[in-house]
Amino acid sequence: MFNKMKLWKTSKDKEISEDRVGQIMNQPIPQHIAIIMDGNGRWAKKRALPRIAGHHEGMKTVRKITKAANRLGVKILTLYAFSTENWKRPKSEVDYLMKLPEEFLGNFLPELVEENVKVCTMGDTTRLPETTRKAVNHAINKTKHNNGLILNFALNYGSRAEIIDAIKQLSADVKDGRLNENDIDDECFSNYLMTKSLRDPDLLIRTSGELRLSNFMLWQLAYTELFFIDVLWPDFSEKHLMDAIESFQRRSRRFGGLISEEFQ
Ligand code: FPP
Repeated sequence: MFNKMKLWKTSKDKEISEDRVGQIMNQPIPQHIAIIMDGNGRWAKKRALPRIAGHHEGMKTVRKITKAANRLGVKILTLYAFSTENWKRPKSEVDYLMKLPEEFLGNFLPELVEENVKVCTMGDTTRLPETTRKAVNHAINKTKHNNGLILNFALNYGSRAEIIDAIKQLSADVKDGRLNENDIDDECFSNYLMTKSLRDPDLLIRTSGELRLSNFMLWQLAYTELFFIDVLWPDFSEKHLMDAIESFQRRSRRFGGLISEEFQ
């Protein structure tokens, strides 16, 4: 009885019962969770703070959710940190967003290393400021042998650009005889995408109540379960992550067929 009452402490020191964690972990955990982290600006506005305060708070949520996902046995966590469209924001906000990976990794890289997290990115990082790229590359290098959670930051990422780029590479391979056009299928095409070494997301979460994909992983999300939640990203907690996973566990995934495919 005492064991059942053991509690999973969260960063805000709210408590989640071990029973709930146990029940979740007894069922298939989505191996790849992708998140559109939305609502930082509204979170700040509600508090009469500048938008960047919302992004800063959002960074703390990244830390919290990474730890929780790792602990729950999620294998890949892909986070939409900066889209190819985000350059249209005011320069001061873009500059701040560009500094966040550096700040995050500056503060938490030792913790990520200790927790066996492997950092990687997708997106065109060549446009990022030199210091940001250095911080990210350092983290990738420092964690490359880790085999726990893969923390995949989408940085300067846009799905249409990714697909167009894949088509260009694929066409060049066909033209130069490295690829026979009859061999082009889903799997072949997937290998030209930035996610080539990663399985498709099992679960997509979007915070803030918006119901759209915003040019995020359009190919990869073909059979992903979607979970939209009306909570702003800085307020998203371990409890909400568990709500999303429980919702996923109640669904029957058929991948277009009639019989529920065994989740592996
Ligand atoms: C969308 O909210 C959020 C972003 C464009 C940035 C997301 C970035 C973070 C959560 C921090 C990233 C941290 C690391 C470690 C890279 P919004 O600004 O569009 O919010 P709004 O819709 O309420 O205005």
